[in-house]
Amino acid sequence: MKILAIHGSPRKEGNSEILLKEALKVIEAEGQEVIVIKAATMKIAPCLNCDGCVETGQCIIKDDMDSVFDAIKEADRVLVVSPVFFFGVPAQLKALIDRCQALWCKKYLLKQPISDKKDRKGLLILVGGMARERGFEASNATVTAFFRTIDVPKHEFIYFKSIDAKGEVLKHPEALRATREAAKRLIQVE
Ligand SMILES: Cc1cc2nc3c(=O)[nH]c(=O)nc-3n(C[C@H](O)[C@H](O)[C@H](O)COP(=O)(O)O)c2cc1C
Repeated sequence: MKILAIHGSPRKEGNSEILLKEALKVIEAEGQEVIVIKAATMKIAPCLNCDGCVETGQCIIKDDMDSVFDAIKEADRVLVVSPVFFFGVPAQLKALIDRCQALWCKKYLLKQPISDKKDRKGLLILVGGMARERGFEASNATVTAFFRTIDVPKHEFIYFKSIDAKGEVLKHPEALRATREAAKRLIQVE
C-alpha cells in the first residue's frame, strides 16, 4: 500500500509534525510505503485561475506540484496533518490544495479518472491553539473538498484543540494515542 502523507505546517518539529511522526510510526511498522510531502518546504505557486487546465486537466505552472500530482495518482491512502491558521489551513497547504483545480477540471469537466487505485481512504488530523470546536470546521471543509476532488471518497477526521506552544502536544498522550489508532484504521483493508 502506498501512503501519501501531506504536512501543512511551516513550523519544524511543531505539534502537527509530532502527530505526523506518530502516525508514520504505525504505518511504517506495518511495512507500508510512505511518501511525505511537506507543503512548506516545496516550491508551490498559488493557483492563478488562468483556465490553463480547463481543456487538459493539466496545470500549466511548472514547479514542485508536478511531484505532488504524481503522488496523488499513486496513493492508496492520503493522510493530511496540519495546524489551523485563522480557522483555515496554512497558506502553503492551501496553495497545494488550490493547485488541484487542475484535477477538479480533469474529474468534473473532462470526466477522466484521477487514479486507477480503488477504495481510497483519507485521514485528516488537525491541531489548533483554540479551545472552540468551531475553529476546526473550515479546515475540515477545505480538506474534504480536496479529498473528494482527488478521488478519496471517504476520510476520518480527528482534531486536537487548545494545543499551541511548539511541542506541547507531547504533554497530551491521549492525542498521540488517538493519532496512532486513526493511523491503524487508515491502513486497514476492509
Ligand atoms: C498564523 C497563525 C494563525 C493561527 N490561527 C489559529 C486558529 O484560527 N485557530 C486555532 O485553533 N489555532 C490557531 N493558531 C495556532 C496553531 O494552530 C497552533 O499553534 C498549532 O499547535 C501549531 O501547530 P504546528 O506546531 O504544527 O505548526 C494559529 C497560529 C498561527 C501561527
